[in-house]
Order: sequence, then structure tokens, then C-alpha cells
Amino acid sequence: MKSILFVCLGNICRSPMAEGILRFKTDAQGLKIKIDSAGTESIHVGENPDPRATQTAKEHGVDISRLVARQINRNDFDAFDLILVAEAHVYNEVIRISRHESDKKKVDFIMNLIHPDSNKAVPDPYYGGMDGFEKVYDMLDKVCDAIIVKVEKK
Ligand code: 4NP
Repeated sequence: MKSILFVCLGNICRSPMAEGILRFKTDAQGLKIKIDSAGTESIHVGENPDPRATQTAKEHGVDISRLVARQINRNDFDAFDLILVAEAHVYNEVIRISRHESDKKKVDFIMNLIHPDSNKAVPDPYYGGMDGFEKVYDMLDKVCDAIIVKVEKK
């Protein structure tokens, strides 16, 4: 079984949306993938996703309302095959807590799934309006389609 961890800063906007979208798609196709999300920061630990993220996902038929924010920890390198990060700051933080080379090899940028080696960011929608959340949803939706194609090929 494949296992994927999505990581952003707070685990209340981008990574829970990615988790919800991918779970929705894999459930629909009967694919067995372990999916989770986490943040590099502790500030929102224990919170449900930002209401704007929940609303945006709901409009696409995806329920993320019951997800709960947590902080990434070193055990995640053992628990997941692939750790997909939202942006460079998050990448640097995940690499900082990694223990050895095989941990580092598991880490990649979310957007590299559709724009290989670009290291593009999924823009942080937290300080903007609903349009930013919709844009992020659209990016993550495309990434999750690409993940499914990859998993199906294996
Ligand atoms: P996320 O968004 O990393 O996509 O969950 C953010 C959530 C909270 C903050 C920043 C980004 N914050 O500064 O509290």
C-alpha cells in the first residue's frame, strides 16, 4: 500500500484540502492509499480546517470538516512513503527534522507531481479571500488526479 502525507504550515488550509480531495478520489476508485496531512507549525494543532477551506471543499462535494490539525514529527518518515510539501519554507523545515538521507528522499513538492522539478508553491490562501481557496483547490485537484494515475500504473 502506498502512503502519502501532505504538509503545509498550519495544517488548516492547503494540506487538509489535499488530504480530503485525494481521499475522496481514491475512495471513489476503490484505491487503497493511506493518506494524512500535517503542519510544520504547532499554532493550529487540534483545530478543524479553516472554515473557508471547509466551505470550498464542500462546494466540490468533499467533506473535510472533521479533520484535525497536527504537527509533523520524525515518526512520519517511517509511517509514509511520500511526504509532499506545499512550499519551500515547509520543505526546509521538513528536511531540517529529517534523520538521514532515506528520510530526505521521501520529501517532494506537491506541485512537482504536475510540474516536475519546478518546486512551485501551492500559494498560502490564509490571508486572502475565498478566490485564493478556490485557486488552491483547483491546483490540488489536478495534483490528486496525477497521483491517482501514478498509483494506478504501479
Ligand atoms: P496552511 O495555511 O499552511 O495552508 O494551513 C496557513 C494557516 C495558518 C497560518 C498560515 C498559513 N498562520 O499564520 O496562522
